[in-house]
Amino acid sequence: MFTSIRLSAARGATRIVGVFSETKRLPKGLSAINSDLDGALSDALKTPGFKGDAGECLPVDDVILVGLGKADAFTADTARSIGGRLVRKLHRMDVTKVSVELDATVPAKTLDGDALSGAVVEGMVLGNWRVDMFDGSASNRSKKSNTLTIASGTGTRKAAMDRARIIAESANEARRLGATPPNICEPAWFASEARKIGRQCNLKVSVITAAKAAEMGMGGLTNVGKGSKVPPRLVVLEHKPAKAKKGVKLALVGKTITYDTGGYSLKISNSMKGMKYDKCGGTAVLGAIRAVASLNLPIHAVALLPAAENMVNGEAYRPDDIIRMYNDVAVEVTNTDAEGRLVLADALAYACKTIKPTAIIDAATLTGGVVVGLGHFCAGFWCEDDGLRTHVERGSERSGERVWRLPLWKEHKDFMRARHADIWNSAPSRNAHPIQGAAFLSYFVDDDVPWCHLDIAGVADVESDKDLYVAGPTGYGVRLMTEIAASMVE
Ligand code: BES
Ligand code: MN
Ligand code: ZN
Repeated sequence: MFTSIRLSAARGATRIVGVFSETKRLPKGLSAINSDLDGALSDALKTPGFKGDAGECLPVDDVILVGLGKADAFTADTARSIGGRLVRKLHRMDVTKVSVELDATVPAKTLDGDALSGAVVEGMVLGNWRVDMFDGSASNRSKKSNTLTIASGTGTRKAAMDRARIIAESANEARRLGATPPNICEPAWFASEARKIGRQCNLKVSVITAAKAAEMGMGGLTNVGKGSKVPPRLVVLEHKPAKAKKGVKLALVGKTITYDTGGYSLKISNSMKGMKYDKCGGTAVLGAIRAVASLNLPIHAVALLPAAENMVNGEAYRPDDIIRMYNDVAVEVTNTDAEGRLVLADALAYACKTIKPTAIIDAATLTGGVVVGLGHFCAGFWCEDDGLRTHVERGSERSGERVWRLPLWKEHKDFMRARHADIWNSAPSRNAHPIQGAAFLSYFVDDDVPWCHLDIAGVADVESDKDLYVAGPTGYGVRLMTEIAASMVE
């Protein structure tokens, strides 16, 4: 695919225009270009096999006609998918300069021109990403390097396209870390990557080491990390712009388990494969804070990334251990495979105590149960605060990253009470499994702090290629959390 995608002036660019499916007569917006081409566009509508499905591409002279799908079903998501399919087509055609002019066809009341162009750029940048950083000498991928230039437009158009590019590139950064295998990406490597990213976008980065975490009483992070050769750590990144909106302080917390073997409650055979994606809550938070900082959003935001590797050795924690967490809650470990909630718990309690946030969002590949319940279509979300929920739902709507709410009642919280300690990390019954995760975490968030938990286990990666995503990590949550942050300060 393209080595890079940039936005700039693009003289002599190939124009990309669109038609909705079942278009019989060329839309008015395309009549000028059609006469330039001596009617070739209107003729092209009759091309056998061209249906105008979303993302279908048809070269017509030096223009590319792209299908927009059904007019009444067109949304920003359609525009993103079109961008994803289009960028692959452009690469195959060796087209390296384009000007995207879908707004000549899509009415502003369907999707305004700036939002439309932004969505297409977002789709192109996401769709262009590949896992090729680990290719070796036997790779059969083309090594040619080429840049795609997209005509940037001016004013609000340029701003919308730039914003979309930055957010999508941040999602791609999250995907790069997500795809990095556990023999490379362990907690120390992850922290050094976070430092690099922090440096690039002016974030203040600090790392609480394993020794310090133990001394501070972070029993969750410490115990989960004990079985690994590489000690755990808590990475903290802060964006504190001079013009931050008063009274808003957002904490983002991401589960960063660089590999989840299950520990002594070992994952059996096939269920371990793919657990390099168990850090994707953390990579999403890291991507989101990168985007927030790069866009210089006027919000004070702090990212907390508890990073650990859940392994097995003579030091590793066991089922039956009773551990004390940062906020002194005593936890009976019933299952070492319910490790994510333990590292998150310390980070959440630490956020409440030291940051005093006005909102906390955590993202985690927390349970297989959420995949059973909701599939790969959306994240599960829990939020008992009306104000924060509005921002989450708006962010979801704007990003196209879907969420579905699940309940969190007193009964669910009571369900986590243990026999020999305050709570256990997993109830003996698998009932309401994803909710058990949320209920466990609730013991570590102060009651007066609006909090949203996102269980992204079903959406952090895809098994096969889609319009926007190749098999591998999706960066889910980067776009969502960035839009949530933006919504909080608009
Ligand atoms: N990382 C897993 C959750 C997971 C499962 C993510 C499948 C993606 C795909 C998590 O740490 C885990 O092991 N959860 C257990 C919890 C149980 C032991 C209480 C689960 O969901 O089975
Ligand atoms: Mn686990
Ligand atoms: Zn896990």
